[in-house]
Amino acid sequence: MPRPDWPTAAPYVPATASLAELAAAMDGCRGCPLWEPATQAVPGAGPDGARVVLVGEQPGDVEDVQGRPFVGPAGRLLDEALQEAGVDRASAYVTNAVKHFKFRASGKRRIHASPDTWEVRACTPWLQAEMALLKPEVVVLLGATAGKAVFGPSFRVTQSRGVLMPWPPSGDDARFGAGQALATLHPSAVLRADDRDAAFAGLVADLRVVAGVL
Ligand code: URA
Repeated sequence: MPRPDWPTAAPYVPATASLAELAAAMDGCRGCPLWEPATQAVPGAGPDGARVVLVGEQPGDVEDVQGRPFVGPAGRLLDEALQEAGVDRASAYVTNAVKHFKFRASGKRRIHASPDTWEVRACTPWLQAEMALLKPEVVVLLGATAGKAVFGPSFRVTQSRGVLMPWPPSGDDARFGAGQALATLHPSAVLRADDRDAAFAGLVADLRVVAGVL
């Protein structure tokens, strides 16, 4: 798809001190064309004072319908991994780099389609607004899209996973808090892995690093 003329959500992001207001405004976003076929925008979910923010790629089919992040199969696997690692999901804030579900239709099914780099970039003002309100101590990047959204297009999860890095990436941008970031596998990659047990164990091992700094 050619890059359109309106590649940013910025005009739709309200200046607010409230995550609830941010979430309410999100469904009106027209910052890129992904809003149109989607059911609704899916904002992050979790307590205002969350110390940990988990960032996924984009809502899936179930999330698009329910309006909440990580409530489908990938979310169930994430819940299991967090529990095994000793990270409490209820006290974490869970969100996505892209707030609308991107898919292609195949008969009655909606098949996940990866967001393009410009779509991720267009959506970044929402993620930045969430981070500016939360000022997290730990940011967990689930998969390549989240990693690139935060660390830039050359970031490779496979090379940097499981390692604590400075948060925020630019170091001096106190708007987003001060702490650490860690990249790991996306739960959907675990679901697709040939050796699912080994992939799950790897995800849990990375999340244990997070548990260790909380
Ligand atoms: N995958 C994601 O990246 N996010 C969700 O919310 C669900 C599945």
